Amino acid sequence: MGAAPTLSLQTATAPALSVADLRISFSGRTVLDSVSFDVHAGELVAFLGANGSGKSTTLRAVAGLLGHDSGTIEVEGRPTGWRPQRSRPPRQDARTAMVFQRFHLVPRRSVLANVCTGALHRMTTWQSLLPLTFPTAVKEEAMEALARVGLTDRAHEPAGRLSGGQQQRVAIARALCQGARVLLADEPTSALDPSAAATVMELLRDLAEVDGLAVAAVLHSPSLAREYAHRIIGLRDGRIVMSGTPETVAEGRIAGLYGTPTPQEAAA
Ligand SMILES: Nc1ncnc2c1ncn2[C@@H]1O[C@H](COP(=O)(O)OP(=O)(O)OP(=O)(O)O)[C@@H](O)[C@H]1O
Ligand SMILES: [Mg+2]
Repeated sequence: MGAAPTLSLQTATAPALSVADLRISFSGRTVLDSVSFDVHAGELVAFLGANGSGKSTTLRAVAGLLGHDSGTIEVEGRPTGWRPQRSRPPRQDARTAMVFQRFHLVPRRSVLANVCTGALHRMTTWQSLLPLTFPTAVKEEAMEALARVGLTDRAHEPAGRLSGGQQQRVAIARALCQGARVLLADEPTSALDPSAAATVMELLRDLAEVDGLAVAAVLHSPSLAREYAHRIIGLRDGRIVMSGTPETVAEGRIAGLYGTPTPQEAAA
């Protein structure tokens, strides 16, 4: 499929996303522990791991959908302001946006209106109370975002009429309209057929390499990670147990994330 990903020169600069010593527990049970990683602008990092290994919890914490017990989350060198889990609820930060397996669009509203909602955080209270009348400047930005994902011609259709792959691209356009610098994607291709999945993965990689976003994607498929990611991080039981480029991570290490590795796999 696509050419082997090249690592952007921008990785020499400070990371766009820096997570250090993240720890999260639910009802006294630790589900993430000592999780530390960076994602640079220009980089697509894939997270792999078995069910329940903590992939979504990691992204949700970074997105501010979930608080954490301890550790730090910084975007472009500044703390995101997320609160520890046991005090106030976490706060959303416009610099990060998340896309999900099931798109999370409003199906009856137009594609354009769905994308415009990415800009709600920049609108006045009055503007946001009248969501059917987005300001012209916001609509123009939304159209630019739709052009970026190749869906200009579908702007005025109800979002629910689009195919799954197209709806995922609308969700990505909404993140662009938000002005996010860090794009988080939780199994963005799991509901898509192989061709639509490839289109979405190519778009995510382009947003990193061409637009300079930092992209962190949980992927269900090791082969997609190998094909599109610049770096792969493996989680097991809430801890990072593997990190490397597709070229340097051995097949056996990835297989080991999903079960007990055979001695041959472990040695690979
Ligand atoms: N809100 C919650 N309350 C209690 N436990 C939770 C909550 N969210 C996640 N967990 C637990 O945290 C652990 C990690 O879950 P998480 O959803 O992050 O895994 P995952 O790697 O994304 O798995 P999957 O591949 O199935 O999506 C699991 O044991 C899960 O049961
Ligand atoms: Mg998950």
